[in-house]
Amino acid sequence: MFWLLLCILDVLVASFEVTVPNKHLLAIRGRPAVLGCEFTPDPDLSNLVVTWQRQEDARVVHSFYYQQDQLDRQSPEYHNRTSLYVLELHKGNASLRIAAVRPKDAGWYMCIVSNAKGTGRALMEVTYEGMHAYRGVDYAGDVSPPTFNIT
Ligand SMILES: *[C@@H]1O[C@H](CO)[C@@H](O)[C@H](O)[C@H]1NC(C)=O
Ligand SMILES: *[C@@H]1O[C@H](CO)[C@@H](O)[C@H](O)[C@H]1NC(C)=O
Repeated sequence: MFWLLLCILDVLVASFEVTVPNKHLLAIRGRPAVLGCEFTPDPDLSNLVVTWQRQEDARVVHSFYYQQDQLDRQSPEYHNRTSLYVLELHKGNASLRIAAVRPKDAGWYMCIVSNAKGTGRALMEVTYEGMHAYRGVDYAGDVSPPTFNIT
């Protein structure tokens, strides 16, 4: 009897998954970055909770529940800079877009998702690439906001 219960639990747990296709993402200064995250979809979005947070200090990067963005607890550094692909949520796509990457965006990001099928999380790292790779100048230590000249 007990093994049967274990098997059922196992199936329940295994039926929900959160995965990140890219465990390491290189983000380029001033460009948008898309942090990929996929989960086992459920047609009923009313139970869906998506939270992106920084692993180091649990700062909230973005969250979504009650079928809309919930940004009251969003860390100020991410204000107006993040979005989910809301129309992709029913397909199990919880990818996060960060506009105009800054040096402080580098670090570890946790994608946490729950819906009627379960709860899961996945971790990924964003590394920051300044402009030095393109212009032969070392910009390390430059923490000013990015500016771009479109030529
Ligand atoms: C999620 O949707 C975005 C926008 O359509 C797309 O660029 C991205 O590749 C998708 N990510 C995954 C993991 O499916
Ligand atoms: C975010 O955008 C709103 C509306 O455009 C603006 O009032 C607010 O100051 C912006 N916040 C930040 C932190 O840039």
